[in-house]
Amino acid sequence: MKFFVDTAEIDAIRELHDLGMVDGVTTNPSLIMKSGRDIKEVTKEICDLVDGPVSAETVATDAAGMIAEGRELAKIADNIAIKVPLTWDGLKACKELSGEGRMVNVTLCFSANQALLAAKAGATFISPFIGRLDDQNIDGMELIQDIRTIYDNYGFETQILAASIRSANHMKEAALIGADVATAPPNVIKAMASHVLTDKGLDAFLKDWAKTGQKIV
Ligand code: E4P
Repeated sequence: MKFFVDTAEIDAIRELHDLGMVDGVTTNPSLIMKSGRDIKEVTKEICDLVDGPVSAETVATDAAGMIAEGRELAKIADNIAIKVPLTWDGLKACKELSGEGRMVNVTLCFSANQALLAAKAGATFISPFIGRLDDQNIDGMELIQDIRTIYDNYGFETQILAASIRSANHMKEAALIGADVATAPPNVIKAMASHVLTDKGLDAFLKDWAKTGQKIV
């Protein structure tokens, strides 16, 4: 499973990137707002740092507007994936932009039918939002499984980009189902390294080591 980082914070991306944990980046208007940066400026910086796809989201609500914004965002760098929402106009924009050979990430997907339409419209990525479904007492992970089954049934090449990931457990579940990509905030990726028994075991080893009075270097 590829790891995308869901943030527009350069330092956080750099730290994970230096560890080889970043296959791409996703941003959205809320993350750009949080960064306090200019969208084109910060997206360019991210694209210079990361080789993989960097999603930049359109904000128009009509297809023509999304297409114009998508083309403009794509000028930032070759690794831009244009993000459009899963609306009827978003699907039109997806069809047009992917037909031009651009990467398109169709976002705000909350149903398997929406994902099926995005694949038919030529999406490079479909972004089903797990956490926001869980917030509504709907099993977000079931959606990932349904999309995996449908895409595999018909050999769709659209990549499932599990999004709105809130926990390390979401990462594990998405990987078990076979999501192609998971995008998560930096703290969730870091949390994957934590285990209470690791902390406890290390603590015991260090206490015993101190009793030996030895040094390695
Ligand atoms: C995906 O591309 C979105 O930016 C993101 O995963 C949304 O996550 P949230 O529901 O935690 O805001």
